[in-house]
Amino acid sequence: MKKVLLLCGSPRKKGNTYQVLDECARAIEQEGLETEIISLAGKNIRSCIHCKKCAELNECILDDGLNEIIAKLRESDGFIVGSPVYFGSARGDLMAALQRIGMVSFYHDFLSWKVGGPISIARRGGHTSTLQEMLMFFLYNDMIVPGSSSWNMVFGWAPGEVQDDEEGMKVIRKFGVNVATLIKKIKNNQVA
Ligand SMILES: Cc1cc2nc3c(=O)[nH]c(=O)nc-3n(C[C@H](O)[C@H](O)[C@H](O)COP(=O)(O)O)c2cc1C
Repeated sequence: MKKVLLLCGSPRKKGNTYQVLDECARAIEQEGLETEIISLAGKNIRSCIHCKKCAELNECILDDGLNEIIAKLRESDGFIVGSPVYFGSARGDLMAALQRIGMVSFYHDFLSWKVGGPISIARRGGHTSTLQEMLMFFLYNDMIVPGSSSWNMVFGWAPGEVQDDEEGMKVIRKFGVNVATLIKKIKNNQVA
């Protein structure tokens, strides 16, 4: 079965980012695809040390749990990344994860034509700069990013407040449906 991996960049296990990704995952599952949400909560993801060892190892030399995420990502057809906005940026450890994933793929090209994109969550502002920041990862790595009926941003402060942003959640559900639909179209048209 086709699968979409969703990476949650919040330190709050069931916070707003997780709840938004869960909404997205349910929309994807309704289209007949499998999903899995992985949270960075409780993990200590380090930054890339530019050792280039991933070129020979085909994984990262740092042993902090990221290689398990990379292994799941290799088997997935889609990849969606959600981050809370911290001072107008994505959370640091999430960007560290994306940069290390990107470096392994730079040498071993496993991200090409995976479908997905970024989602940002904030109380008040900085959603768009955060989306743009995360989008750089997708576009560099030959991935396919569909749109939705607006940008992938949801408003919320205390955990659960995102449920009140009806328009934001609607946009996220549509994004999930678009990701799933695109994956099915790409896979159904593959010759081999
Ligand atoms: C260090 C820090 C910086 C933040 N910076 C912003 C910000 O720039 N803009 C904003 O609207 N909210 C900001 N927030 C609020 C969070 O983005 C917001 O509470 C979000 O819903 C948290 O998502 P979570 O529950 O998934 O962790 C910040 C929160 C923290 C802890």
